[in-house]
Amino acid sequence: MEEKLFENWEQLENSIRICKDCKLCQNRNKVVIGEGNKNAKIMFIGEGPGADEDIQGRPFVGRAGKLMDQAFKGIGIKREEVYIANVVKCRPPGNRNPEIDEMNACKKFLKSQIKLVNPEIIILLGSVATKEILGEEYSITKIRGTIIEKDGRIYLPTFHPAALLRDEDKKILFWKDLTKIPK
Ligand code: URA
Repeated sequence: MEEKLFENWEQLENSIRICKDCKLCQNRNKVVIGEGNKNAKIMFIGEGPGADEDIQGRPFVGRAGKLMDQAFKGIGIKREEVYIANVVKCRPPGNRNPEIDEMNACKKFLKSQIKLVNPEIIILLGSVATKEILGEEYSITKIRGTIIEKDGRIYLPTFHPAALLRDEDKKILFWKDLTKIPK
C-alpha cells in the first residue's frame, strides 16, 4: 500500500523533528531534516548525517560537505539554490550504512520532500541513495554519471562525496558528473 505523504512543509518538518519511528532517534543530538531552496530545480540526496551534521542539524557540513561546496563553486551552483536531503535524518552510529528498517521508517519523509520540492533533477550521492530511490538492482558503479529517467523524474547518480576523501581520482569524475546537470 502506498504510504500517505505530507502535504505541506510545516507538517513534514515538525514530524521529522519529533520522529521516533526507528532506533536512530535514541542516539541523535539533532535531526537533520534537510535544507535549501524548497522550490529548487536541483535536489541532492545523500545517505545520512555524520558526526558534524548530527551536532549542527544541517546536511553536508563536515569534510564531505566541504568537498561538495567546492564542486558547487566549480560548476557555478550556489548551495542555497538547491535542496539537500538525506535518506535517513538521524545519524547511524559510527557512520555505518543505514539499515533497511531505518530507511523504511524515513521513506515517507524523503518521498514527501521530493514531492514538495518537485525538482527537475535529483542527484543521487552514492550507492545507498541510488538504491533507495531507483531500486536495489541499480549498481552505482555501473550507472554513475548517467542521466536516468524513471517514473517521470530525471536522476543523476554519482559518487558519495565521502568516497572522494578516500580516493582522490574520484574527485575529477564527481565534478564531471555534476557538469551533466542540464543548465
Ligand atoms: N554524508 C551524508 O550522506 N549526508 C550528510 O549530510 C553528511 C555526510
